[in-house]
Amino acid sequence: MRWSARLPRFCTMPSNTPTPAGTTPTPPAALPTNDPSADTAGTWRLGDRTVHRMGFGSMRLTADPDPAAAIRVLRRAVELGVDHIDTAAFYVSPGGTLGVGTGPARYATELIRTALTPYPPELVIATKVGFAADDGGQLSEANSPAQLRAQVEENLRRLGRDHLDLVNLRIVKRPGRDSIAEAFGALAELREAGLIRHLGLSNVRIDHLDEAQRIAPVACVQNSYSVDHNRTDDELVRVCGERGIGYVPFFSLAGSRRESGAQQDHGDAVRTIARAHEATPQQIRLAWALHQGRHVLAIPGTGNVDHLASNIAAGAIRLTAAELAALG
Ligand SMILES: NC(=O)c1ccc[n+]([C@@H]2O[C@H](COP(=O)([O-])OP(=O)(O)OC[C@H]3O[C@@H](n4cnc5c(N)ncnc54)[C@H](OP(=O)(O)O)[C@@H]3O)[C@@H](O)[C@H]2O)c1
Repeated sequence: MRWSARLPRFCTMPSNTPTPAGTTPTPPAALPTNDPSADTAGTWRLGDRTVHRMGFGSMRLTADPDPAAAIRVLRRAVELGVDHIDTAAFYVSPGGTLGVGTGPARYATELIRTALTPYPPELVIATKVGFAADDGGQLSEANSPAQLRAQVEENLRRLGRDHLDLVNLRIVKRPGRDSIAEAFGALAELREAGLIRHLGLSNVRIDHLDEAQRIAPVACVQNSYSVDHNRTDDELVRVCGERGIGYVPFFSLAGSRRESGAQQDHGDAVRTIARAHEATPQQIRLAWALHQGRHVLAIPGTGNVDHLASNIAAGAIRLTAAELAALG
């Protein structure tokens, strides 16, 4: 079914939705027309840039051997108001994070440059470092200062930018001593040098956030989080809201299926609430994420323009306090 037949029903934003200090709540969203708009989800100030809370994740774009499909999705996303796109230089096929594909290398960063240059001034491109892909798309952890600098330069080159809006340090959590000070300090120096505007963290705990904030300002945390996955992050989501830091969940749709794709097993509450809103379960998953605080920014990933429009339409769904309680 096409997304336009699935426009959600609306109700008011619950009064207990937290509004962290330092942010201005946006006025109530207008009802969408046949063209959904990312602005129905409201805005958040990411560092010194204001972005719509409904963004886009580019990891899936390299899977299709035809780059024209990815370019269509990216241009449509911007047309529908997306001004926050997440990427990484290691989002590449064949290989890369998805481990799929054949043929010549396709980089998400280069697809973004092809589709969107000259870049709209309001567009914020967030990228991440901490991993590098070799020529065959094989990934490895790479977080020494020299490796991080090389990745920042690779992002600049592939995106065709002279600075990066936002760079997340993506770490691998380890038990015990797993300080991020050296790696985050190296990125802070690149920020001081003007190559990076804002810094963020990915796949981290609260103690990593504390450590990073002692070194340089943190604009956002990007972690795996959804209604039914990694709910141990509830506390980190709250802490980010209190500190005025954006929280950017990935795998909102995929949940525990992670890179393998969208979760199909949504549970009774998601399905019941989807029916009540004449929405899809995927739209309720995204709406739930956006209701976890005004500092939460969605970045659903898709290579499909109909899915893209449906995801953006989810920014207009307003869940009631009772529905949020049922979702847990
Ligand atoms: N920091 C990190 O470590 C990290 C890790 C992973 C991802 N990320 C970022 O987070 C973004 C989001 O993660 P993700 O893309 O892996 O997962 P996701 O957004 O949770 O889910 C994407 C999956 O859902 C499907 N999908 C999307 N919209 C749909 C819809 N309306 N109906 C049905 N299926 C739908 C997609 O397939 P179709 O293409 O067929 O729509 C894809 O298989 C990524 O794109 C990437 O930018 C960051």
